[in-house]
Amino acid sequence: MIKNDLYLKALRGETVERPPVWMMRQAGRFLPEFRAMRDRYDFFTRCRRPELASEITLMPIRRFPLDAAILFSDILVVPQAMGLDFEMREGVGPWLENPVSNMADVEKVEVPNVDDTLGYVFDAIELTLQKLDNEIPLIGFAGSPWTILCYCVEGKGSKNFDVAKTFCFTQPEAAHLLLQKITDTTIAYLKRKVEKGVSAVQVFDSWGGMLSPEDYQEFSWQYIQQIVDALKPLTHVVVFGKGCWFALDEMSKSGASALGVDWTVSPENARKLAGNEITLQGNFDPSRLHSTPETIRKMVDDMIRRFGKDRYIANLGHGILPNIPVENAEAFIRAVVDWKE
Ligand code: CP3
Repeated sequence: MIKNDLYLKALRGETVERPPVWMMRQAGRFLPEFRAMRDRYDFFTRCRRPELASEITLMPIRRFPLDAAILFSDILVVPQAMGLDFEMREGVGPWLENPVSNMADVEKVEVPNVDDTLGYVFDAIELTLQKLDNEIPLIGFAGSPWTILCYCVEGKGSKNFDVAKTFCFTQPEAAHLLLQKITDTTIAYLKRKVEKGVSAVQVFDSWGGMLSPEDYQEFSWQYIQQIVDALKPLTHVVVFGKGCWFALDEMSKSGASALGVDWTVSPENARKLAGNEITLQGNFDPSRLHSTPETIRKMVDDMIRRFGKDRYIANLGHGILPNIPVENAEAFIRAVVDWKE
């Protein structure tokens, strides 16, 4: 049994004394100990070595009273396992030398055996669970098929992912074949994470909001729904769609336990769109962690009051930024932990 099960209670919709809190990208560059390790090992080495990945996962947990840990890894380990050689380049971010651009490229993409290609992630889960010693739940994650396609086709980050959109709109057959291959790999990957002992899985659809509501259905949502259908008999599924407020109604009927929302939607509107039955997670503007600790505390109180303490997981509306002072992140977390009705 997990000693602090606030996060799981919120996912089950149970009454809690205060909402649970964790931060997207909490195992990341805002921590000096993470930056120190970065000088010694490159990014994907840190993902591939279970002793490093588990240590990084624990870094924020050792500092702050967080209610959940998220495994240190990256969404791009999945397309790597499918044969696409992503690197992480200094000052550039993700980089794929030969991006996918046509049907012939898509046909070459593999649906791999996840034990052969991603065994290091499962080993990292095992080691992390030993270190967590049942104190708090561990969250597993994957990128949404659409968000992964964005990187496979663009070959790097982008402001608007118009190359990925052009690919979908001009070569829909190739796009759907690639999306289905990513979906099949992701389902096998997440199932194995659950078998290894993660308590919930979160799907990051970071670039879903780049699509119109109609295109979102066709190129993103239908594949996320397949993932939810496959995983929900086994665990809690959380779907975070950045900029996807327009889909909250449909998402709320998907069988997911919770939906992540970003800061461009008010708590009241998110509730109105998603209904009262599903747990919501979010949505503090990551840039607002540059405000003073005192302002952060006031804004967090307001956020909890407006979402309501039940069926709610306090979080940011997207990943924490690298230049956030550690004490400001701490003020955010403590404001939730110390919250009283
Ligand atoms: O939340 C956590 O702390 C767990 C670890 C985690 C990372 N990436 C580590 C990471 C998670 C959950 C991710 C998910 C991820 N990766 C997403 C979805 C969430 C989101 O933020 O939208 C995306 C789109 C990626 C792809 C990715 N990885 C990009 C675009 C970048 C470069 C941009 C950046 O922030 O530097 C990464 C690198 C990355 N992934 C870092 C970390 C800690 C920074 C690496 C470094 O500088 O050493």
